[in-house]
Amino acid sequence: MRDKEIPPHQEQQQEEPAKNSSCFKKTESHGQVMDKVAARIQKKHTAERHGRQPGRKTAALALLHVAGQSAPRAFLWAKRADRLQCCRTAIPSAPLLATRLNKMITIGPIVLSNPFLLAPLAGYTDLPFRLVCREQGAALTVSEMISCHGLLYGQKQTFAMLKTVPEERPWSVQLFGSEPESMGRAAALVSAMPVDILDINMGCPVPKVVKKGSGSALMKAANLQQAEAIIRAVVNNTDRPVTVKFRSGWNDASICAPDFARMCESAGAAAVTIHARTWAQQFGGKADRRVIAAVKQAVSIPVIGNGDILCYADGLAMMKETGCDAVMIGRAALGNPWVFQPSGIPETLAGRLPVILRYLELADQHLDTERLHFRIKNHASRFLSGLPGAAAIRQEIIGSDSLAEIEKVLKKKAMLA
Ligand SMILES: Cc1cc2nc3c(=O)[nH]c(=O)nc-3n(C[C@H](O)[C@H](O)[C@H](O)COP(=O)(O)O)c2cc1C
Repeated sequence: MRDKEIPPHQEQQQEEPAKNSSCFKKTESHGQVMDKVAARIQKKHTAERHGRQPGRKTAALALLHVAGQSAPRAFLWAKRADRLQCCRTAIPSAPLLATRLNKMITIGPIVLSNPFLLAPLAGYTDLPFRLVCREQGAALTVSEMISCHGLLYGQKQTFAMLKTVPEERPWSVQLFGSEPESMGRAAALVSAMPVDILDINMGCPVPKVVKKGSGSALMKAANLQQAEAIIRAVVNNTDRPVTVKFRSGWNDASICAPDFARMCESAGAAAVTIHARTWAQQFGGKADRRVIAAVKQAVSIPVIGNGDILCYADGLAMMKETGCDAVMIGRAALGNPWVFQPSGIPETLAGRLPVILRYLELADQHLDTERLHFRIKNHASRFLSGLPGAAAIRQEIIGSDSLAEIEKVLKKKAMLA
């Protein structure tokens, strides 16, 4: 979603690799090679473009020049180096391998064991994926966003999204809607279930949500009273702590997150999550950490920072830069539940295999048969991202007919790698 891949035909058009100029020794580990690549990209890039972040294409080109590597291999390494580089840039003086931060945070009476939380990602953060992230260190998971009307009309699919197991606790259920009365009734209904926190979505930018006055539409100046009424209605209809997730504002001309956070606090919210982008930005541009810092200054309840965190060290950097109490990681967790570990994603399929197999086991236990195959193939493919030969393994997974077959493919490839 973030990086545009270079289509294979373009890779072939790039300059020929310099022959016999490899600076990489066969005995070097992938990590050592990546370190060298990252250093070279940084050097090349700083000289050429005055320190702008190297893109994957620049990185691949640098590799072709310096290492005499084939284009696809260079591209894969460049992709990984790009990721490493982003983490290094986030905290230039810190070592890449961060140490675990054992800081507890409390949301109302709920105590979270550490400040790294999994963001809600509709269509992705189903129960098996959330459980895998919990096992890798995420202190809190959130349901996919749930329509208050879907709940009140008793829709089967909506209720399926409320499924949890004791090992997931504490967990949060996120509601969206535009009418205080319906949101209050939905809150009462959910509160009869095993749920620890109720979250209100006031940040979703998707047209079908915004058109109905929900999600980030509630940040428009004209809708602020409605937003406050919704929070009060939810707070008055539950005994669980209520949190609100919102954006920086509607657009650049109306950044209102600090005032919005104050309003949430006075309406009874126990914590707020700020995704530091405006509605107008959707998912483009960069999250502005200054807005997170301003929100932190504005309220005394816990503030959870969100937007563009790529790795554990980057999460630590956001807390340090902004003073926020915890961080929420979304897209970087897809295919990478290890993002909740200071050591990050393993570099080999064998290293990743136990977690991938665990995901498959949990998916088999918890997903209904309708969704099982699509979700498994989607997640399993993402777990392979950045590995040599990932495309071929993905093809085999997509062509598999059963869970057992997918497992067999993965185990075989891990042994061969
Ligand atoms: C596919 C997708 C689905 C999302 N679904 C939700 C959702 O259901 N509720 C919500 O509050 N935010 C949702 N978001 C926003 C994320 O929770 C998060 O705020 C955003 O992606 C920025 O964080 P990141 O850069 O770590 O991904 C979604 C984002 C994506 C990309």
